[in-house]
Amino acid sequence: MKKILVIGSAGQIGSELISELRTRYGKNNVVASDISVGRLKDLYDDGPLEVIDVTNKQHIGNVVIKYKIDTIYNLAAILSAVGEQSPMLAWNIGIGGLLNCLEVAKEVKCAVFTPSSIGAFGGGTPLDFTPQDTIMRPQTIYGISKVTGELLSDYYYKKYGVDTRSVRFPGIISNMTLPGGGTTDYAVEIYYDAVTQKSFTCPLRPGTFLDMMYMPDAINAAIDLMEADPAKLKHRNAFNVTSMSFDPEMIAAEIRKHIPDFAMNYEIEPVKQGIAEGWPNSMDDSAAREEWGWNPKWNLQTMTVDMLKMIREKYAKGLI
Ligand code: SER
Repeated sequence: MKKILVIGSAGQIGSELISELRTRYGKNNVVASDISVGRLKDLYDDGPLEVIDVTNKQHIGNVVIKYKIDTIYNLAAILSAVGEQSPMLAWNIGIGGLLNCLEVAKEVKCAVFTPSSIGAFGGGTPLDFTPQDTIMRPQTIYGISKVTGELLSDYYYKKYGVDTRSVRFPGIISNMTLPGGGTTDYAVEIYYDAVTQKSFTCPLRPGTFLDMMYMPDAINAAIDLMEADPAKLKHRNAFNVTSMSFDPEMIAAEIRKHIPDFAMNYEIEPVKQGIAEGWPNSMDDSAAREEWGWNPKWNLQTMTVDMLKMIREKYAKGLI
């Protein structure tokens, strides 16, 4: 990987992936792009920025050729809960966008990383210690597009030799850019509300266990997989990866170790609750560990300390 394009750079993952990629590969070797570059200009004036609408193949092709890109990180997506309000938009961005990336990659021979998700599971998936290879019949447009994306990515690898690789991300917790419209977003919002108002209204029921991951582990997962020796990969699209599994009561208890009067209320959002119940409680990520050395560093305890510290700093500066 020497010349990298990130599509969807202003989003929750993209905004942090850009910094790490520029540190590792050099700022001029990493092109940040999004549907508009307004916010990116504030975040990243230290390297190339381009406007790319992922549903426009020409946009992608032009930038790939202009910078001689060899690896695309395609992060454009509509998350699970909001996808249920606009299924066609979720499909057009998730699958239309992916096909555009794969077609460009086929023409110029570049690698493609497109995250899959715990959302790809459902409809009979074993929910405890969910295997790498198992039943996947998701009930959301987000999940359907993630399974389709995995299959298409494997298809382009087998048929055309496009170097496609992916992970099934769990809920990603971070403090730079908020996620938008996901079922796992509560595990980010809870930290902001804990700092700013010492209480949180949770949309998921106690006992709803989901896999989660702190952003630094997610960034390492994406980059380490793209750097992995292809000879060792038995799977490609996509690897189970997880760092921790908890329910709302567990994260609240962890926050109370630092904010003893933190109060948790519940107002269940039926769409999110229904989605969460179809997703794994905890995944088996041994294939990722064996095939490319996946080894997460963060857990609920260490993540909570860091999240509260970072969000308190933002609050003190008047940024939230
Ligand atoms: N964080 C995503 C969502 O909740 C799951 O991949 O939609």
